[in-house]
Amino acid sequence: MKEKLLQIKNTALSLIIDAKSLAELEELRLQFLGRNGTLTEAMKEMKTIPADQKPEAGRVVNEVKTIIEDTLKNKQQELKEIKVSTRPALDVTEPGIRPALGHLHLVTQAIREITTIFNSIGFKRVRHPEIEWDWYAFTSLNFPDNHPARDDWETFFIQQKPDNKKGSVLLTPHTSSGQVREMEKYSHPELVSGSPTNKKILKQVQDDVNIRMLNIAKCYRRQSDVSHTPTFHQFEGLVVAEDVSIADLKGTLDFFVKSYFGEQRKARIRPYHFQFTEPSFEVDISCGVCLGKGCRLCKEGWLELGGAGMVHPNVLKYGGVDPEKYTGFAFGWGIERVLMMKEGVKLDDIRVLYANDLDFLQQF
Ligand code: PHE
Repeated sequence: MKEKLLQIKNTALSLIIDAKSLAELEELRLQFLGRNGTLTEAMKEMKTIPADQKPEAGRVVNEVKTIIEDTLKNKQQELKEIKVSTRPALDVTEPGIRPALGHLHLVTQAIREITTIFNSIGFKRVRHPEIEWDWYAFTSLNFPDNHPARDDWETFFIQQKPDNKKGSVLLTPHTSSGQVREMEKYSHPELVSGSPTNKKILKQVQDDVNIRMLNIAKCYRRQSDVSHTPTFHQFEGLVVAEDVSIADLKGTLDFFVKSYFGEQRKARIRPYHFQFTEPSFEVDISCGVCLGKGCRLCKEGWLELGGAGMVHPNVLKYGGVDPEKYTGFAFGWGIERVLMMKEGVKLDDIRVLYANDLDFLQQF
């Protein structure tokens, strides 16, 4: 019996020492120590040996078992270490692969910059619906019913039964549709999404009106050519308070022009006509190339920016604001237009802004 055990021990140890892999080692463990393993079988034979030899045989069996187990464990450790050291080394000096990094679209960049400039003088950015009633886009802005001026805005109408008071549903052709909505926040907070044409409610005029709105939104007009896209963006300023004058409008325009385009640039206002402002102006900015002297780019020294004016008393009334007590100014310009004027880029085709052409977009 002892002989047999020592033989098992020697075979096991030499095989374990020569093992080349962890898998091979596991097989050896089963071969000797597994349920039907050689050593296990030998232990079963213990029953058959004479009683007086049992203690000695038991001692040898335990010794053999322990030494096989220890050798297995040591060999396992050794093989694991080899595995780690033969892995290819990580070269931390090798150049990495930089993930492609995008940036904000230039229209978003412009929106953020314009917002920051107006925030700094107390304007608050707001949002109003882009799917809007005719009432807010036209009628409350002093456009008489069926006035041909509606066509100037080339509006998209939505096929929906018109409301008795608020008229058709349309896509906002300009951010001016936010003017009366903004006034209602002060005059009829309960009406912000309700009907504004109730005569009785219009009589309640709110005290302490103090509006400094910056409404930036998508606008929609039925137009698509080299200088127009059907969807574009406008930013609209509206100030309504006591004693607001043209001088305040002019000061605000100058501040914006200098902050956005640069210190040497100036704004000027020219008489114009809009239904919802009186007087109305067209705002120009001095040319960035000749600074107002006149050159090949601008001809006269000035470039056209967009519309502005003093809020028409009827519009104040429609907004529930007392025109005897309050005055206001408004301006509304195209984001795409001001950003092109700032970058000094004259795009052959403005639609490139929305064509997702990376070669173009990555330049900004
Ligand atoms: N809403 C006008 C437009 O789209 C611009 C404008 C805004 C004019 C505010 C005057 C006052 O052309």
